[in-house]
Amino acid sequence: VTADFRFYKSIDSTNTEAERALADGCPTPLVIAAGHQTKGRGRLGREWFSEDPGNIYMSFVFRPHLAPSRMQRFTLWMGLELCAELHDQFDAPLMLKWPNDLVANGKKVAGILTEARIDSDQTRDLVLGCGININSNMDNWPEEIRQRATTLSQLKGTALDINQLGAALIRRGLNAYDAFVDGSYEKDFDSRWHRFNALEGQTVTITDHHGDHIGTIEGIDEAGALLMRDKSGITKTYQAGDVTLSGG
Ligand code: BTN
Repeated sequence: VTADFRFYKSIDSTNTEAERALADGCPTPLVIAAGHQTKGRGRLGREWFSEDPGNIYMSFVFRPHLAPSRMQRFTLWMGLELCAELHDQFDAPLMLKWPNDLVANGKKVAGILTEARIDSDQTRDLVLGCGININSNMDNWPEEIRQRATTLSQLKGTALDINQLGAALIRRGLNAYDAFVDGSYEKDFDSRWHRFNALEGQTVTITDHHGDHIGTIEGIDEAGALLMRDKSGITKTYQAGDVTLSGG
């Protein structure tokens, strides 16, 4: 796989830069990475703490022609593949927490923010941004985030080679994209999902714009939406939200 690559020492947000690049007619696939971000963005309008060097801030930029209904599954697949790569490289207990957090021992290591422009029912522009906590010592991170997050170097007890790791993740991500577009990912999706799904059979709380919902995770549907059975035995589908494991 080949792709263009742009690196910025500092930028507002690699996802925002990706939007500008797409508006300028950039070639795709394109990977945009930065040493740090001044306006890193997370899911649900949150901020992504990006001041520290030593972490990965990058965005994959694609122009696929996917039906919008396949976007959730695409994001899950990319998350699973990036999780598998980190797992292979470090033998760390990494799991994917639906929809797109990478967690280890219940703490967040990485997050994914997918943004798309949809035209006449096709996804034209697709930006998959990925922030991975690697070598940051987290000393100047807000206390509330330090409670819930960790870094790969903390997990391994040693500083890691961010360039080598970044290159491996880019390769894996581009291959994963190709496999999704040509359909060959189908044969691997279920085994990856069962291996890395952090929520398998767990009792959780899903928080979405309607409020909190408690139940037991049963899996995902064809589109990648989460299926949860509540205590009256009814299974419902959740398209978006934050999942909290009971007891952590
Ligand atoms: C989340 O867990 O809320 C998603 C976080 C995504 C952060 C990455 S860092 C690179 C890219 N640029 C951004 O502004 N956000 C994503």
